Amino acid sequence: MIDLNQFHTKLLTWYRDEARDLPWRRTTDPYAIWLSEIMLQQTRVSTVIPYYHRFLETLPDVASLAAVDEELLLKLWEGLGYYRRVRNFRKAAQRVVNDMDGIIPDSSRELQKLPGIGRYTAAAIASIAYGECSPVLDGNVKRVLSRLYTISAPINETRSEKEYWDKAEALMVQSQPGDYNQAMMELGARICIPRSPNCAACPVKDHCKAFSKGKQNHFPVKTGKKEIPVRTAVSVVFETDGHVLIGKRPSNGMLSGLWEFPTKFYEASENDTLEAATSSILTSWGISRDASQFVVNIKHTYSHFTLHLHVVRCSVDSLETVSINSGSYDKLEKIPLDHLEKYAFHTAQKKIFSHLQSRQESFDF
Ligand code: ADE
Repeated sequence: MIDLNQFHTKLLTWYRDEARDLPWRRTTDPYAIWLSEIMLQQTRVSTVIPYYHRFLETLPDVASLAAVDEELLLKLWEGLGYYRRVRNFRKAAQRVVNDMDGIIPDSSRELQKLPGIGRYTAAAIASIAYGECSPVLDGNVKRVLSRLYTISAPINETRSEKEYWDKAEALMVQSQPGDYNQAMMELGARICIPRSPNCAACPVKDHCKAFSKGKQNHFPVKTGKKEIPVRTAVSVVFETDGHVLIGKRPSNGMLSGLWEFPTKFYEASENDTLEAATSSILTSWGISRDASQFVVNIKHTYSHFTLHLHVVRCSVDSLETVSINSGSYDKLEKIPLDHLEKYAFHTAQKKIFSHLQSRQESFDF
């Protein structure tokens, strides 16, 4: 049994002395804390910091977020990935403005009713902004708990969730819940790390069952990852007179609302070579003669597949001659090449930009 008082005192003392000075720890504004928690889902602290500042400077409160147009919203999130987060964030802000007099709910129960806020995020916001005593449970905290209690339920399986939540509840006490939650996350991020945890520096090692048995490297238990498939697509930079054609992805589905050069997936089995696939894609877009030039091959990894993107450029007499099937994009725009930065492109596509100046680069997949 862990002595809760001792455990808390040691953890909170360590946190007071060692916590990183992060921008969202300098505020009590629930909107800013909410923003930080949404950004920190799936994204590391160092990546989040500049986005956090820029977002708050542009949209300083829930009313400005509720009113912002999609283009600016996506531009502020461009490169962070998991764009559904920011769409839900705006939807939730609209709900707060329209139905709640602009006041952000102050309990995890009510917060969880808003789009994009699950049990973990609700607990983080409610504990940090309002002092509610609800534990958080993310990957870092799960790892800490699995070692503290030598929990052998795999951390990456849904059927283990209840056991971890129960332990998280049991370990929480009433005082300083916001600091406590952040201390647990901080411990997981900096000391109780996945491989070779730094137990010598751990403030709560005397309470850790795995450490007492010298088994810290046996926890957490994780079941084997499924291999993620490779998918191949072709992107075409159609150009004429310093202008290029770009498409806005449809409003439902992956990367919705983000911009890209016209892109089509193909099944490798259907075509023998990338060149043949590229030709047939060009043909399907009304470009009968294959006038394309290779630009670059790009590899980009998503959570559920790896993308191999074959990029070509294609000079056409007029961008109007390109006939992309309606339905592929919400809209197509013809823009000067030096205006690309004004649009929110998803990351795989942004990787193309620098190669449009230098033509000859390549690497093999
Ligand atoms: N991850 C999620 N929320 C966090 C926070 N408030 N501090 C540090 N890491 C976090």
